[in-house]
Amino acid sequence: MKIVSVVGARPEFIQAAPVSRALRQEHHEVLVHTGQHYDDRMSRIFFEDLDLPQPDYNLGVGSGPHGRQTGEMMARLEEVLFREQPDLVIVRGDTNSTLAGALAAAKLHIPLAHIEAGERSFNKRMPEEINRLVADRLADLHFCITRRAVQHLAREGITEGVFFVGDVMLDAVRIYLPRALERAPALLEQLDLSPGGYLLVTVHRAGNTDSPHRLAGVLSALNAIPEPILFPVHPRTRQALSRYGLQAADHVRLIEPVGYLDMLALEAHARMILTDSGGVQREAYFLGIPCLTLREETELMETVEVGWNLLVGTDPRRIVEAWRSFRPRGPRPPLFGDGHAAERIAAVLRQSPPRFGQHYRW
Ligand code: UD1
Ligand code: UDP
Repeated sequence: MKIVSVVGARPEFIQAAPVSRALRQEHHEVLVHTGQHYDDRMSRIFFEDLDLPQPDYNLGVGSGPHGRQTGEMMARLEEVLFREQPDLVIVRGDTNSTLAGALAAAKLHIPLAHIEAGERSFNKRMPEEINRLVADRLADLHFCITRRAVQHLAREGITEGVFFVGDVMLDAVRIYLPRALERAPALLEQLDLSPGGYLLVTVHRAGNTDSPHRLAGVLSALNAIPEPILFPVHPRTRQALSRYGLQAADHVRLIEPVGYLDMLALEAHARMILTDSGGVQREAYFLGIPCLTLREETELMETVEVGWNLLVGTDPRRIVEAWRSFRPRGPRPPLFGDGHAAERIAAVLRQSPPRFGQHYRW
């Protein structure tokens, strides 16, 4: 089978790595990079860290408002799909690259698979929620990371072509963690951090970076927490901090975004993680690191319910209080499968090659 895999943003490169490995054993994969993320530290470094094959196409779309960015991606993807005539298009997650890939494939009647289907925050103000709703509606095959995602789809009338396979991000942790841990001692020394002696922070969600009030809330909490803090800053957040004139205290180290192996090493040795990232919340769970989620809701309510993740929003008092008191200790059930999701995806494609519109009956 010829498969076009669409990637464009940081988490998609990470998710693509285990899937590419599994698919390339029996299929011809054409990797298309939309160019949504393009800085070396948001793109190239992941291809190196993950030994991901170079993209067959880089559409070079870059940044822009939602309509222009998604529209440009669709126009350029359409040309690629015309030329390649694939048997399947795979999109993952919930970015504008996901949305453009899903729409371009569906309009050309090409079967579509969505990895990480059925995730819901039930907050339609998030651009990601809109992207996932559309991708799930259009997909012929839905690969879910949790059983709850399967239930979300069922509630929306999507019950066929739905597979609980587990999370390919857990596959990535299984594959790359040993390599990441090897480089941890040198990395921590270079950053002057000790294992278990710092907090790791990431913030990039539009809901937080586009609001001076919310971003100021996060920063004021970090400034008030007396513990070393490492904060690899997404370019969007870097711009927002400077736009709003927000300053970090000396113990809050703002650094450039790091590559995947360094990030895994930093997560594994953090005492606690504070984040608004979907991927980082999941990795905190996989690695058994307590997580404070800087949002009002999360797609990953299972991790909250078992006690390893706490929703704290961006109110500084709430964050500092949670930093002081949150000490999860209970079991971590295998909510996200066993780290072999990519192989399951390959097996599904082997057993039932997708056809366009095959489940369109609800
Ligand atoms: C996107 C996804 C989000 C995902 C995140 C992963 C959408 C709507 N959002 O958010 O779901 O969690 O990626 O990181 O698709 N920028 C650079 N260099 C880059 C990339 C971006 O400077 O390489 C800056 C640009 O100013 C750009 C801004 O970051 O306007 C936002 O980038 P964009 O890709 O639109 O959204 P993200 O916030 O990265
Ligand atoms: N990540 C990384 N370097 C960083 C920040 C994040 O490698 O400086 C990784 C992180 O480990 C996870 C993924 O990027 O695997 C999550 O991406 P992001 O937070 O950008 O997006 P989201 O998961 O929220 O869509």
